[in-house]
Amino acid sequence: MQAQAYQKCIEPTCGLEYPITDIRIECDKGHMLDIKYKTIPSTSLKEVFYKRRNPMSNIFNESGVWRFRELLNFCQIDTENIDQCSKRLVSLDGAEGRQSKPYHMSKVSDYVGVQNLWLQPEGYNPSGSFKDNGMTTAITHAKLVNIKKIICASTGNTSASAAMYAANENMECDVYIPSGEVAPGKLGQAFQFGAQVIEVKGNFDDALSTSLKQASQGGGYTVNSVNPFRIEGQKTIIFRALEFLDWNPPDWIVYPGGALGNTSSCGKCLMELYEWGWIKKIPRLAVVNSEGANTLYILYNGKFEGSKLRWNKGKPDTSLVKRYYEYMDKNGIKPKTKATAIQIAKPANILKGLRALEFTNGVVAQVSDKEMLDGMALVGLNGFDCEMASGAVPAGIKKLVEQEIIKKDDTVIGILTGRQKDSGIPVDYHRNAENKFANPPRS
Ligand code: F0G
Repeated sequence: MQAQAYQKCIEPTCGLEYPITDIRIECDKGHMLDIKYKTIPSTSLKEVFYKRRNPMSNIFNESGVWRFRELLNFCQIDTENIDQCSKRLVSLDGAEGRQSKPYHMSKVSDYVGVQNLWLQPEGYNPSGSFKDNGMTTAITHAKLVNIKKIICASTGNTSASAAMYAANENMECDVYIPSGEVAPGKLGQAFQFGAQVIEVKGNFDDALSTSLKQASQGGGYTVNSVNPFRIEGQKTIIFRALEFLDWNPPDWIVYPGGALGNTSSCGKCLMELYEWGWIKKIPRLAVVNSEGANTLYILYNGKFEGSKLRWNKGKPDTSLVKRYYEYMDKNGIKPKTKATAIQIAKPANILKGLRALEFTNGVVAQVSDKEMLDGMALVGLNGFDCEMASGAVPAGIKKLVEQEIIKKDDTVIGILTGRQKDSGIPVDYHRNAENKFANPPRS
């Protein structure tokens, strides 16, 4: 049978291709990879996906990832054959993506000044963050190629998710974390799920380069978002949002930006859906950096050496990125934010992120720690839980509305990426009566 899915280099002038069973995170020339599909999925699947919301005891219908399996069928299975699904697809009992869909949080809407605002709490995944969407697909690929050990670097959520799936699939798992910079709840999960934690002196960028080096020396299968199979699973975040809107795209989709896996995945998802004729309009992407870890903001908006970094139809000025990284290294500039999940200075997916921003005519904003904390607290006042990095979403939307980039009557989807795993952060916030949404205790 001819392969229906394959891996392909993202750079148009290179375009090297590899079979699905190859284990690699880049092409032979060192460029990132996409998973590509040869057949165009019929739009009649929209009805199939909707019907699967009554899962009829099938965990692959229950799963908010595998419910859309025809749009990420890199295993090339008969998607209606439950036996094949059970043998090949990894799922934590159908729980990934099961509970996440957009929700109207009225207090956030009033605060940011947009009524058609929908926030999607991806923190309500089994390990407590959006990572499960992509980890279930990365581990599915790992299983396809008979992997016994996975490896990742993490600011905490990736390691929790990786460790959870590894435990359930009987794989070993090594996680490299920046020492002292990971929320206690996230670290606890890695220990609890049996992963080997390796503490690295330095930040996430240092942990990632160490873990990638280990992986290249046979230390395990990388499950960070540089793995193109992770990106496939994270597309389902957008599938669920679009399905909720009857596949009528919103004006905006807003994410916090860290390593830019989500940004990349959202871009790939929209590029495919548009090419396949599933959507007629392309939403604009807004990525929100923390002020303390704002590499994308700086480069995209021309705040370093003046020129604005763009994908430029596949010919980005990578030397500008290199010069900025050298400038940071030389001047001892380190990422610093209380939102440790996005404390990242060298976003590994920056080129895919730029491609996504170009395709969607996107924007990049930045917000302060205080603004993120207010955003987080406000989500809490709607009865939902999110961590500080996710608070960047309401904070970023507010800022973009004030700048009249997002219009008050636009339809906006914001992704709340993770659940609170450091209870000290809201406790400190609410004890301080000076904070905007503080709820201090009485004595
Ligand atoms: N929000 C949360 C809660 C995260 O944990 C992360 C990344 C992001 C946003 C940024 O997403 O990398 O796709 O731009 N956390 C990674 C980790 C780096 O190791 O858990 P991104």
